Amino acid sequence: QQCKLSLVDQTKLVTAASELARNTLVYGGGGVMRVGLVRRDGWVGVTAVFEDSGPGIPDVDQALTDGWTSGGGLGLGLSGARRLV
Ligand SMILES: Nc1ncnc2c1ncn2[C@@H]1O[C@H](COP(=O)(O)OP(=O)(O)OP(=O)(O)O)[C@@H](O)[C@H]1O
Ligand SMILES: [Mg+2]
Repeated sequence: QQCKLSLVDQTKLVTAASELARNTLVYGGGGVMRVGLVRRDGWVGVTAVFEDSGPGIPDVDQALTDGWTSGGGLGLGLSGARRLV
């Protein structure tokens, strides 16, 4: 709201954040999110970093492929989050 994101954009950001948070729980055993505002060239944006101390993602390109999952998921969380932001 502080960045004047529309309700639709807020919803996209929250959905992306929720997918990344879920991954830190499922694959990383829990983690932290650091969120803040960024200002650049007169624009205000949101930055959100999700970090966990799990095994990490050995092949990020593969993990970002639609439908690829190492577990029983849909494999759409990361790729969907990228599209949403
Ligand atoms: N924090 C993480 N630590 C380790 N591996 C991860 C992490 N996040 C994602 N991955 C790997 O990337 C794969 C793809 O993640 P993605 O969120 O796209 O799909 P998913 O979690 O398997 O299914 P879903 O569609 O329900 O989210 C995961 O199956 C997992 O192997
Ligand atoms: Mg996921």
